[in-house]
Amino acid sequence: MGKSSKDKRDIYYRKAKEEGYRARSAFKLLQIDDDYNIFEGVKRVVDLCAAPGSWSQALSRKIYGDGSDPDVKIVAVDIQEMAPLKGVVQIRGDITKLETALEITNQFDGKQADLVVSDGAPDVTGLHDIDFYGQSQLILAALNITTHILRPGGCFVAKMFKGNDMTLMYNQLRVFFRSVQFVKPKSSRNSSLEAFVLCQHYYPPTDFKPTMIDPVIDSYKELSKQSLSQVNEFIVPFIACGDLNGIDSFNFTT
Ligand SMILES: C[S@@+](CC[C@H](N)C(=O)[O-])C[C@H]1O[C@@H](n2cnc3c(N)ncnc32)[C@H](O)[C@@H]1O
Repeated sequence: MGKSSKDKRDIYYRKAKEEGYRARSAFKLLQIDDDYNIFEGVKRVVDLCAAPGSWSQALSRKIYGDGSDPDVKIVAVDIQEMAPLKGVVQIRGDITKLETALEITNQFDGKQADLVVSDGAPDVTGLHDIDFYGQSQLILAALNITTHILRPGGCFVAKMFKGNDMTLMYNQLRVFFRSVQFVKPKSSRNSSLEAFVLCQHYYPPTDFKPTMIDPVIDSYKELSKQSLSQVNEFIVPFIACGDLNGIDSFNFTT
């Protein structure tokens, strides 16, 4: 689809063209780094929902550089195909699927990542509740992967929509990170509901065992087969229950 002349007037659209970035989104990540130094000391990164690849380009330029450091590893994941990039390992897969999560962890040979970023956005329907739900599922999937791969002290950045229940999200993420903030880089359009949650200093609760089970869609039987630690049982599971045969409380009259 061609770009409208409004897009072409946009300063970040033009800057992206000039600097060879595949999308103006690159500046969102770069501006978060300018303000919060999220790239400082970073060698291993996972870029979730990475296509067409402008965040991966920024990571390649800032972290991979001339490729002289053998410890640097950048893994980019997207459900869509993405053109190759210097110093970036690419995985094509759905981040909500267990097999994709395992492919990511396999790339790190038992080592941990310093940073996980996710710019994931669902196909927007225009129906707010559905779109917010889709966005929350992507954040949850990204967090699940993060708990498997991020080193203690590491950082996680994820796209969110203002209007997602921010207090709830803050409290849930604070279980895993010492610092949680919502940020809106200058290059993110004012008219957009988009913002980013910036989680720093990963410190999972003592005895927390990462699990790829999605408590909303996996059955309780499946959950109970896993030997979750007491910490997981206490903090993590949220069980959606009931079936279509029950009484609809809204329509029930005596
Ligand atoms: C806004 S774009 C990302 C832009 C990217 N950060 C960049 O700078 O070029 C959102 C991406 O999320 C991806 N996505 C959405 N749902 C996904 C899922 N379940 N698994 C993997 N990728 C997903 C889409 O394919 C799309 O490429």
